[in-house]
Amino acid sequence: MKINIGVFFGGRSVEHEVSIISALQAIHAIDSNKYNVIPVYISKEGIFYTGEALLEIQNYEDMKTLLSRAKRISIVKDLKETLIFEYPPGILRNTALHRLDLAIPVVHGTNVEDGTLQGYLESIDIPYAGPDVLSSAIGMDKIIFKKVLKESGLPVLDYVWFYTKDWLKDSEAIYKKVEAQLKYPLIVKPANLGSSVGITPANNRTELEEAIELAGNFSKKILIEEMIVNLREINCSVLGDYEKARASVCEEPVSSVDILSYQDKYMGNSGKGMGGSLRRLPADIPAEMSNLIQDLAVKTFQTLGCDGVSRIDFLIETEKNEVYVNEINTIPGSLSFYLWEASGLSFSDLMEELIQLALKKQREREQLIFSYETNILSMHSKGSKGPKS
Ligand SMILES: Nc1ncnc2c1ncn2[C@@H]1O[C@H](COP(=O)(O)OP(=O)(O)O)[C@@H](O)[C@H]1O
Ligand SMILES: [Mg+2]
Repeated sequence: MKINIGVFFGGRSVEHEVSIISALQAIHAIDSNKYNVIPVYISKEGIFYTGEALLEIQNYEDMKTLLSRAKRISIVKDLKETLIFEYPPGILRNTALHRLDLAIPVVHGTNVEDGTLQGYLESIDIPYAGPDVLSSAIGMDKIIFKKVLKESGLPVLDYVWFYTKDWLKDSEAIYKKVEAQLKYPLIVKPANLGSSVGITPANNRTELEEAIELAGNFSKKILIEEMIVNLREINCSVLGDYEKARASVCEEPVSSVDILSYQDKYMGNSGKGMGGSLRRLPADIPAEMSNLIQDLAVKTFQTLGCDGVSRIDFLIETEKNEVYVNEINTIPGSLSFYLWEASGLSFSDLMEELIQLALKKQREREQLIFSYETNILSMHSKGSKGPKS
């Protein structure tokens, strides 16, 4: 019997569209002789759909028509299996559309990639590929991520963080703290967005105020760090899990402006998602630097306890030749397939490895104890006097 794989994508995230591109690329790369692939699209409203029409990128130009052709679904955990039903239920809709054996989340950004989708899958016991709740959540919060890396001795830029509310209450105190610890030019970021949304440089107090105001629209926590002026950016993907992981070749994204914008990242020259972005691949850096980055990438991945395929992005200060881990994308755009192709692994083999890693994770999970057979509530009726006795 073929394994039924649900590829989950979309979601209530600013990176919704990027996820559609990544997911359709991934779906087409999965070996259909071996697996049945079921698209599971999460709309911006959080409604789940499936259906053939969701498999073609051009159908997304007209969302209304697409959704009228797709089937709204509910996912139900039955005794031994997970089933997908058409929603709302009806007399003619009482048999399941599909059995769901394994999920592959191909989602980016808040409300999905940050562990929320993984938490949903976990709570109803659907095995899934990729990072778990904790690693996803750490990877999405730029502040917590830096704290964890710093504690593990991995190189991150110094930073200051605060709640947007505290800045609204007493901005002067925040400016003083920032200026005491960091030197202009600074860079201001919402703690948990992506695709450069809400990120601005600040050269002085006035710009700092504007930058915080903008970032505050997107997150309740704000991160400020010094801006690297002589900057090179290098990205590297990691594939594996906590036991065994390897790094891809490095890439250097090429930007048309100071900060890599949404436009640079996803529209590129061909408008075909991350695969179409402008980049030097492999990056033109000395072997020593590339080895160092690959080593730091694997360490970052394993420190967080990631699983599947991630991309770790680095900032290099070119005058002092200093390397900093900037961020991790626990489910990267296009699943970083282009980095793996350049490393000798085809997209289809990459998907196969992701599936095998998910099955391994599931086997390991089945060996853990999640509940005890005793029911303390049933003891009540047998004369126990409750928890205190
Ligand atoms: N400390 C920094 N110094 C210089 N440029 C930076 C710094 N931090 C971020 N950038 C620029 O801003 C871009 C987006 O920042 P990043 O932290 O990667 O956020 P996102 O999650 O939106 O990708 C980076 O790709 C880089 O071009
Ligand atoms: Mg980035």
